[in-house]
Amino acid sequence: MKIFIIGVAGGVGRRIAKQLARSGDEPVGLVRKPEQAEALAANGIQTTMGDVVAMSVDELAEKMLGCDAVVYSAGAGGKGGPEATTQVDGNGPGKLAAAAKRAGIRRFILVSVFPEAWRERHMNASFEHYMVEKKRAETELVRTDLDWLIVRPSALTNEPGTGRVDLGLAKIHTQIARDDLATTITALLRTPELNREIIEVTGGNIAVEAAIDTFKNAKRQ
Ligand SMILES: NC(=O)c1ccc[n+]([C@@H]2O[C@H](COP(=O)([O-])OP(=O)(O)OC[C@H]3O[C@@H](n4cnc5c(N)ncnc54)[C@H](OP(=O)(O)O)[C@@H]3O)[C@@H](O)[C@H]2O)c1
Repeated sequence: MKIFIIGVAGGVGRRIAKQLARSGDEPVGLVRKPEQAEALAANGIQTTMGDVVAMSVDELAEKMLGCDAVVYSAGAGGKGGPEATTQVDGNGPGKLAAAAKRAGIRRFILVSVFPEAWRERHMNASFEHYMVEKKRAETELVRTDLDWLIVRPSALTNEPGTGRVDLGLAKIHTQIARDDLATTITALLRTPELNREIIEVTGGNIAVEAAIDTFKNAKRQ
């Protein structure tokens, strides 16, 4: 599989790309800094310079031609103020979906959040804006006719992965290692029959493949 990843130099995107490259797939993506391109190339991951905010839909479509699926794992990460959050977390996925459609790519995985989590904590305005934009991006993707899959991870950590998760339609927001989220997304890329679903994933005790199988089988009943 050839997979186009936005956010390929990020904590989650990089892990997905490395896993794909290790298993003989072809991850590609956009980076914003030359040193990121070099580091990824050393792991067999080809990238080109680009910025999802600055690029047009046509330019994005051209970069992803020939790919089997796209993954949107970019996020402003609180840098650049609310406008960057609006552009990257809110507008970015819809723009990439339009580009995927133009490039003839149907499969689209969006890394989102648990949008209902922490509402009771009365988080600050910047966090609330982030949640609103993530939810807006989900809604925009749901409105497309692509074979989308929205993956909502709980709080991300850099702990080593366990290969085990808890995954389903509605999970409790705890935390999950970026390694395990990447393993889950890589496995979901190999499960195209799961589409037009919103899946919540958090740390747990079920092997990723088994968790996905259980989810898939429950949907069939
Ligand atoms: N942190 C959490 O606990 C948490 C929880 C749930 C969901 N999430 C979501 O999970 C996703 C992945 O998180 P992460 O930890 O991998 O984040 P990360 O390490 O901050 O990576 C985000 C990536 O997005 C890229 N990016 C930002 N703006 C861009 C633009 N305009 N064009 C192209 N690329 C751009 C960044 O590029 P640069 O390297 O050039 O900056 C970076 O590589 C994000 O969408 C985040 O919102 C996070």
